[in-house]
Amino acid sequence: MKILMIGDIVGKGGRRAVRSLAPKLIAEFGCRFCIANGENMAGGGGFSRKCLEELRGSCVDVFTSGDHIWDQKDFVSEITLCADVLRPANLPSSQPGRGWGIFKAVDGREIAVISLLGRVFMGNTHADCPFRAADAILREIGTRTKLIFVDMHAEATSEKTAMARHLDGRVTAVLGTHTHVPTADEQIFPGGTAFQCDVGMVGARESILGRAVEPVLRRFVTGMPGHFTVVDDGTRLHATVVEVDPATGRATGIQRVMRDWDGGM
Ligand SMILES: [Fe+2]
Ligand SMILES: [Fe+2]
Repeated sequence: MKILMIGDIVGKGGRRAVRSLAPKLIAEFGCRFCIANGENMAGGGGFSRKCLEELRGSCVDVFTSGDHIWDQKDFVSEITLCADVLRPANLPSSQPGRGWGIFKAVDGREIAVISLLGRVFMGNTHADCPFRAADAILREIGTRTKLIFVDMHAEATSEKTAMARHLDGRVTAVLGTHTHVPTADEQIFPGGTAFQCDVGMVGARESILGRAVEPVLRRFVTGMPGHFTVVDDGTRLHATVVEVDPATGRATGIQRVMRDWDGGM
């Protein structure tokens, strides 16, 4: 059984590319379930119901998230209406939404998906320990399903690798997001957990992490604040396909995927 994981969807170009390419990738690889990190889908930061509506036909089953989850203020009240969006599970329990859920693949199998937020170099001091959060969620999932996918949204490669080692043999895959740059370290650990430090993004090729080059560059060179506009054309999609033995929940394969999208369906 194969599952598709798509990196951070950035803005309109990202949404359009996912709508066009995700169904094709699902067909090409024979995927039964699709997870995408959506934290940058609305104007480059956060979620909106309108953007989610646009992605209805894209075959994405679950959207994970990260530090940009609350960038769009309306989404604070909207998230409870969006059963397919997960906020990071280790944010304070007083925040709306949920951080993990059990979903159904097209073949009816149950898949648990967990969204976690790292704490190293992230600035989000109110996030709880993602390691203890993962342990608590796995206790709750218990024996209900062996198919468990974790999006570890974090900056530090060490923290993401540590999470995957911590969960090796207990989950199907730990896939990192947040840096918008895919890493070439995909691997299956001895316990059967597939890992990749970062899946990447769905954003413009001619950009800095999906944003226009010039203002980001100016900020680095001059130190002056500026508005970072999202680039909506010439999109590149990064994703990863994980193959799993549904009987054991162990990963049997992991493969990086990259596709360019320049318009059209
Ligand atoms: Fe992101
Ligand atoms: Fe992020």
